Amino acid sequence: MQSPAPFPASRPRRLRRSGVLRELVRETTLSRRDLVAPLFVKEPLDAPEPIASMPGHYQHTLESLRKEAAELAGLGIPALVLFGIPTGKDPEGTQAWAPEGIIQQALRALRTDLGSDVELIADLCLCEYTDHGHCGVLASDQSVDNDRTLERYARIAVAQAEAGATIIAPSGMMDGQVGAIRRALDQAGFADLPILAYAAKYASGLYGPFRDAAEGAPKFGDRSGYQMDPANAAEALREVALDVAEGADMVMVKPAHAYLDVIWRVKQAFGLPTAAYHVSGEYALLKAAAERGWIDGERVMLEVLTGIRRAGADMVITYHAREAAPLL
Ligand code: PBG
Ligand code: ZN
Repeated sequence: MQSPAPFPASRPRRLRRSGVLRELVRETTLSRRDLVAPLFVKEPLDAPEPIASMPGHYQHTLESLRKEAAELAGLGIPALVLFGIPTGKDPEGTQAWAPEGIIQQALRALRTDLGSDVELIADLCLCEYTDHGHCGVLASDQSVDNDRTLERYARIAVAQAEAGATIIAPSGMMDGQVGAIRRALDQAGFADLPILAYAAKYASGLYGPFRDAAEGAPKFGDRSGYQMDPANAAEALREVALDVAEGADMVMVKPAHAYLDVIWRVKQAFGLPTAAYHVSGEYALLKAAAERGWIDGERVMLEVLTGIRRAGADMVITYHAREAAPLL
């Protein structure tokens, strides 16, 4: 006589019996080589200035930026995203493409220091450089003039490339920005320089701390006229399709934690190298709860970063890069 079939027949717990076994069947990996660290450099500063809403982060001087970048490289972080905060702002944001502008100085210094060990991603936008804080130049009705902005973006891309950027990342959400930048780079002899397009960038409240860090908050209105409505996901696919047609080599979804479905859809639909930006507010939420002892900060950080990878991101731009790297 046969003994009755064990119940339940399928026992997923069999594969959870030891740490080694769990590791053997793990589907998603998280490595320090998946992480990209954002950094801020401000001119002029005597000493690095802590950013209150982003514990552990600073507005750097050129010197402290170089030190921080070298440390991140030493930790195995493969890429940095650089943001500059200039002294002089004007309606056009001219410091964004000035050869001696802070971001160009920073790119040249880091290129020399780090050689080809680290990719230098230059965020390309105007909001840190314009006195009104919008991501482009204004039309007479105070709206952002798309096509006149593209002319500025083209200049910025070439200035950043000449200074040593190895990846150009336009974040302003102007229509046609990838095509305009691609043409400008090609004409200037930078046909081999890749573009990481902020393709699906939402008009998010989660950029709050960043606006203190980069001093680029709009002086009037908001960015809903150019960034995406948080309610839309199908539209994200159309945005990505346009950027791909215009020559994007990699695409980005931003924010990340609140938009995992969008990351998933974009990766599934295009199969392109896909970045997710775990933004300043997402960092601040986690840090604040951890500081209060309400969550285990380290554990939740790794869980969230793994979740973003599981959703389909090949790389995660995150303010946690420095703390996470030694754990991975
Ligand atoms: C500039 C830019 C922003 C961020 C990256 N590039 C701010 C914005 O669009 O208002 C946000 C990054 C973050 O919150 O960490 N266009
Ligand atoms: Zn901007």
